[in-house]
Amino acid sequence: MNLISWNWHDLLMTVENKNILIGMTGGIAAYKICTLIRDLKKAGANVKVVCTPNALNFVTRLTLQSLTQSNVFVNEFDVKDWHPEHISLADWADIMVIAPATANTISKIATSVADNLLTSVACAFTKPMIIAPAMNVNMWRNEALQENICNLKARGVDFIEPEEGFLACGYSGKGRLCSIDKIFNAIEFMLDYSQKLKDKKVVITSGGTIEDIDPVRYISNYSSGKMGVALAKSASRMGADVTLITTKYIEAPFKTVKVKSAISMQNAVNEEFEDADYIIMAAAVADYRVKNPSEQKIKKTGKDDETLTLELVKNPDILKELVQKKGTNSKPVIIGFCAESENLLENAQKKLKNKGCDYLVANDISKKDIGFYADYNEVTIFSKDGRKTQLEKAPKIVIAKQILDWIVNEQV
Ligand code: PMT
Repeated sequence: MNLISWNWHDLLMTVENKNILIGMTGGIAAYKICTLIRDLKKAGANVKVVCTPNALNFVTRLTLQSLTQSNVFVNEFDVKDWHPEHISLADWADIMVIAPATANTISKIATSVADNLLTSVACAFTKPMIIAPAMNVNMWRNEALQENICNLKARGVDFIEPEEGFLACGYSGKGRLCSIDKIFNAIEFMLDYSQKLKDKKVVITSGGTIEDIDPVRYISNYSSGKMGVALAKSASRMGADVTLITTKYIEAPFKTVKVKSAISMQNAVNEEFEDADYIIMAAAVADYRVKNPSEQKIKKTGKDDETLTLELVKNPDILKELVQKKGTNSKPVIIGFCAESENLLENAQKKLKNKGCDYLVANDISKKDIGFYADYNEVTIFSKDGRKTQLEKAPKIVIAKQILDWIVNEQV
């Protein structure tokens, strides 16, 4: 078998010749953004800054002008020609990065308040947006702000969380602007999404299924749903019409269907089958369920109750049945996952043969830092016709994009 090993850092698109709009708001971390602008310019990007009047209390217009080699945009009515500045800037930029972002500006953007040039551009912006907040720890924890952040995330805005540490206000805690390297990497990563999945319907399952024992207890597994969500986000950024069938609640800029048991997951997948171009089974589906779940809470009887026996029956194999349903048709492309705690590659090959899907993504769930619940993964993708590729350890969102890239490239 031909094995290709990929390191995700080598694969990112560069920022060269990209138009990057920095939205700077009034926080002490504004001075750090000067380094980001310099790094972006050094890497060949075109950079413009739109800032709130308060941002200029922390960094001078002259500094920003010199670093960007461009005008600094602050006032909506400071117009050079007939073009409304907020629309021209929104049209010009390939990506908008708001950093540092104050609670005030984040909340205005979340509620479409456009009362200065920066928030007006943000309101008119339709391309990828990254927000890197920085503020006092108690402001960060404020429930109204967190709700606004949740809403923006659900609309597809990418947030880079602030870090813990010493804060300029004298407090210690979460609120410090993340590192400039993190923002730089996020810009490269977001720019790297092409519209490869435009007009394609992608169905993804995610999370561990839940099989009732009684109204209080259930059988499940350690799946957090993170891998499935990462795949859904990546597919959506690639232009796909995404349906995420999940056992976990998530707010998302794509369709989500909440399910519980293997049977309800199977019903939901079948509903989407006809129109699907790709079905990705990232969910950890229980192989067995309780034969007769009790309608009432099972109680200790006080007599012969040292052990309790549950009778289990086999659940349908959703993946295998999907493959049977597809038969010899070319659509949908069916991708399974394979979670193994030993002999990963050997077992994955056996599973691919047994399930008959087009691709199988194998991950090792015996390691703490990848697989179940972790933010990272490391996988090997097998194709039905004998090719395989190995993706080195990377954040799940990166692995998700690489899986989709690999599989989509295989189809052309
Ligand atoms: O959710 P996270 O915490 O981010 O973790 C991600 C993950 C480890 C759950 C994910 O990467 C993963 O490996 N998912 C598949 C887990 C699994 O159930 O593997 P399996 O080897 O038991 O099953 C193989 C395939 O058959 C899977 O695609 C599974 O969805 C499918 N299956 C399994 C049993 C069943 N009854 N029906 C199925 O369709």
